[in-house]
Formats: sequence, structure tokens, C-alpha cells
Amino acid sequence: ELSPIDKAKFVAAKKAAEYVEDGMRVGLGTGSTAAWLVRCLGEMVRDEGLRIKGVPTSTRTAELAREVGIEVISLDSAKWLDLTIDGADEFDGNMNLIKGGGGALLQEKIVATASDQMVVIADIGKEVETLGAFPLPVEVIPFGWQTTQALIEETLVSMDVLGRTSTLRMNGQSPFVTDEGNHILDLHLNRIGDARQLSMVLNQMPGVVENGLFVDICDVVVIGYGDGRVEVRD
Ligand code: A5P
Repeated sequence: ELSPIDKAKFVAAKKAAEYVEDGMRVGLGTGSTAAWLVRCLGEMVRDEGLRIKGVPTSTRTAELAREVGIEVISLDSAKWLDLTIDGADEFDGNMNLIKGGGGALLQEKIVATASDQMVVIADIGKEVETLGAFPLPVEVIPFGWQTTQALIEETLVSMDVLGRTSTLRMNGQSPFVTDEGNHILDLHLNRIGDARQLSMVLNQMPGVVENGLFVDICDVVVIGYGDGRVEVRD
């Protein structure tokens, strides 16, 4: 018996799996919600003979996809994708997102951008009026990361955006390391007035590789509820 939150994630994933058609190249997201999707697709491959090629957005997802019997290919051999299905940490009324709570934002953004369509799967708890309550993940190069952090803080404070502070994401006693060998700074912003502008400002800074704002990338949000209901917004 699933807890309400897992049920919500599961029903959203199950519904989104209906977007996947035979022969598609599919971007596979990262996180607990996306893991439900990968398991659903694995079942469809096994039981219904669905033929797809999957492009994972993390080593974690690649392992799971192989485990459940999905053929895994690289993004460069796929060249473009029909569809990407991924989770999110927050989504707003314009289908803009914060992602990267799991640390996979860089590959996730590259894969989603290379896709004809991005479908986000989320439980209703991820919906927000304004993005920013969830700390915004920013992937930075390890070299001089404290200098990059200082630059981000000075810039955002002068723009009146930074609410409190930014923190280096840890993995136990050492800094968290992404699949690309970088670190993550989590920016505590509270509310992000202009997500597009903030995303551009961040990505212009030396040392910043990518940020977790997904602006105008998502096309459909499939929302799951704890009682098993699903809502599709597109
Ligand atoms: C991974 O880096 C993230 O972008 C995830 O998609 C996001 O954190 C959602 O994860 P859950 O589905 O586990 O909440």
C-alpha cells in the first residue's frame, strides 16, 4: 500500500507514460517521481512489447532504466528526442520550473531542451504561486567556487533578489559532486520575481555552469493527488 505522496507520484507517472509511443526516443528524468515513470515504461517494454530508446539524465536513472529493460542510448547518438518526462521541485502557473533538488539539473536541462516536448510529472505539493520557496540549485565549477559564490551573492543582493543566503550542497562531510564533476550552490531566494532574467544573469557568471530554472521548456504538467486523481495541464 503506497503512502499518499507516493500514490500521487505514481499516478502522475502512469498517466504520463501514455504520451510514450512505439519507436520514440525518450528523455528519462531523475528523482523519485521520474523513477516511477522509468519503472512503468519498463513494464510496458516487457509486457506490451513497447520499443523505445531512452536517454537518461543521470547515472542513477541510467542504472534503473537498464535494470528494468529499457534500451539506453546517449543523447548524441539520439541527436534529438520526441519527448522528455521528468519531475520537478516546483512548478508555477506558467509551467516554469525549479529543478535540481536531486542534483541532475544540467543533464536534465540539456535533454529537455533537445526534446520536441517536455512533460513534467509532479504531486500537487509542488505547485506554487511564485517560484523560489524551494532553494534554487546552481551548478558551479569546483575551481574557485567560493569566489563564484561571492559573485552570485553580491549580484543578487544588489538586484534585491537574494533573500537570505546561499549554501554549498554537501554529501555528508564533503561537497556534493554532480555527474559532471561540479558542485551545487543552493540559493535561498524565497520568491523569484523574474525567472527568465535571473536565469540569464546567473548563467552569464564565470564559474556558473547552469541553474535549475526551467523557463519556457515544459509543455505539459501531469499532476498527481494523494487520492489517486490526476490532472493534466497543457
Ligand atoms: C533532479 O535533479 C530533480 O530535478 C528532480 O526532478 C526533482 O528534484 C524532483 O524530484 P522528486 O521527484 O524526487 O521530488
